[in-house]
Amino acid sequence: MNEDNNHTEKPRTRREMSRRQFLSYTLGGTGAFLMAGPVIPMIRFAVDPILKSKGEGALVKVIEESKITAEPKSFKFQVHQVDGWYESEVDLEAWIMKNDKGEVYALSPTCKHLGCTVNWNADSRFPNEFFCPCHEAHYTKEGKQLAIAPAPLDEFDVEIKEGFVYLGKVKPNTIVVK
Ligand code: FES
Repeated sequence: MNEDNNHTEKPRTRREMSRRQFLSYTLGGTGAFLMAGPVIPMIRFAVDPILKSKGEGALVKVIEESKITAEPKSFKFQVHQVDGWYESEVDLEAWIMKNDKGEVYALSPTCKHLGCTVNWNADSRFPNEFFCPCHEAHYTKEGKQLAIAPAPLDEFDVEIKEGFVYLGKVKPNTIVVK
């Protein structure tokens, strides 16, 4: 009897699924869908600060362009920095001036020898140069190293918008022709 029933049953092809498979797929899919609701925002919350831009490169308004002359002047400003989950305001300084064509450029005051701070016209032996008091490195107005330091002073990205000088990220000096 049983054997007869088995004979009449249509053999299952590979594509057909059993009731058990159907139920497990349906329940599994529904479970995953329900779990995704609360879990995705949690993952996003955990990872988001890492993916966010760090604030580097964002332009900061520093000074009116009209205040900039051919003579280098030092300006202090703050940038908002995001480091993972920690956010802070960082104090920065730049020497801002104009070149012979009247274009504004800005140099970092950080000496490329060991990181002390350079000043403009600070030593009578090196007039019209940036001078570092730590080990007497000195640089031209464009930031080219003349002694001690192994590289030119770094440069800020500069943009002039609506009469103001904006500074961005610090990059290796592009003004000095090597
Ligand atoms: S740190 Fe500037 S000369 Fe050494």
